[in-house]
Amino acid sequence: MNSYKLPKEGSSAEQILSNLQSFKSQDVPWATGRAFAYVYEPPADAKAVISQAFVSYLSENVLDPTSFPSLLKMERDVISIVANVLGGDSQTVGNITAGGTESIILALKSARDYFRDKKNPTATPEVILACTAHAAFFKACHYLGLKPVLVPVNPQNFQIETDKIAALINENTAIIVASAPNYSHGVADDVVAIGQIAKQYNIFFHVDACVGGFYLPFARRLGANIPPFSLEVEGVSSISCDLHKYGYTFKSVSVILYKSAVLRQYQIYTCSDWSGYSIINPTVASSKSGASLAGAWACLHYFGEEGYLKLNALTQGATQQFINGVKNIPNLEVLGEPVMNLVAVVSHNPVVSVFQLADILKRKGWYIQTQLASAISPETLHLNINPANAQWVADLLKDLQQAVEELLAANQALPVFDMNWVAETLSQPEGIMQIFQLFGSDGGSLPDDFVLINNFLNQLQPQHRNILLTYFTNNLFVAS
Ligand SMILES: Cc1ncc(COP(=O)(O)O)c(C=O)c1O
Repeated sequence: MNSYKLPKEGSSAEQILSNLQSFKSQDVPWATGRAFAYVYEPPADAKAVISQAFVSYLSENVLDPTSFPSLLKMERDVISIVANVLGGDSQTVGNITAGGTESIILALKSARDYFRDKKNPTATPEVILACTAHAAFFKACHYLGLKPVLVPVNPQNFQIETDKIAALINENTAIIVASAPNYSHGVADDVVAIGQIAKQYNIFFHVDACVGGFYLPFARRLGANIPPFSLEVEGVSSISCDLHKYGYTFKSVSVILYKSAVLRQYQIYTCSDWSGYSIINPTVASSKSGASLAGAWACLHYFGEEGYLKLNALTQGATQQFINGVKNIPNLEVLGEPVMNLVAVVSHNPVVSVFQLADILKRKGWYIQTQLASAISPETLHLNINPANAQWVADLLKDLQQAVEELLAANQALPVFDMNWVAETLSQPEGIMQIFQLFGSDGGSLPDDFVLINNFLNQLQPQHRNILLTYFTNNLFVAS
């Protein structure tokens, strides 16, 4: 390991670029439009403009807005645009972050420090959230020393059971979280009703619109029934919205907005008592390139409202086509009522496993994400139906139907594992490796087909899943 060293001599530009190109052959087939996850690709003409803007700001440093007022101007412009799309007013403030996860970490940091300042400086602050909240919230709790308090979710519609929130509020509650919508099922919580509770109890309320923030307002303009979810709702303190998702700019750009600067001040980290220059960081990273900010600024101006409405019409139409198509495939069902182009598909037949479906589709050149079973949902296929995917929906449905028929003909359910054996094996020093070997893995690699390992993980308690997934990732990131 670590045998790959800095080459003695430099390589030619052609060689380097050709190497990079060849590395891509192993990746999910996003460029074909047949991957329904990960990449929120803008149309080619927009991509060309965003790329140029991106490259033109590679060297500028976001670290110090007083030295790079052009970056400050662009950030203010972007914040103002997003605030206007999301019901903000003249008091709304915000920042650009590197992604949804960072926006969420910062919202929870602000809520924590607000709680410490105004309510209790020593208690462990509590976060009321549902298991449908993005994992980034649980990660933020882990990083920031906050206690997650789970509110039940209705297993029929995948919304937070709003009437259960009040009973969970106590003197340590620092923040309530809702999703608009959640990633797993594309379902939005009742933000208006939760806002009333937050207001009544005077509690910070964050709306996670990372995936929906730059989508739902345009869908509403096109006639979709989208209840209010953003800053115009009474009680909302902050909202996150990722421009690197349905803003269609390159990663890494998300926006965190606050109702007012009084709340945002808790986000800012300042340090002037070390030996170097004073650090005043509104976000987590200190030095960062201006490229993604310039790309986002260019992207918003290139599309304008009209551009976003067009993209929205395309994806809303393709999503409806997919949902209608699934209705015609026996044994499969779309769960809940997604408000946007995020769809979770369940199988009601044990011989038609979604994990097998994903593998069969992969062999046919598709990439469809799978979601393991959780407290409120069985295992599902998960699709983001993005503009580049729209042209493929009919073909995907055909292949999905065929895959279901193939599995029905084979009529074989996946193996069921003994959880006592799992617990016992994982308690042994060599147990983890034994389990990986069972699936043809050395602990840091995976077979081509994921079905067996997915089926196994799916049956495990979350704490056992976490042990295996952490071990795997620790082995995955070893140098060449
Ligand atoms: C609702 C929601 N919140 C947060 C995130 C996290 O965003 P990121 O991957 O940019 O950190 C996602 C990502 O898909 C999301 O869908």
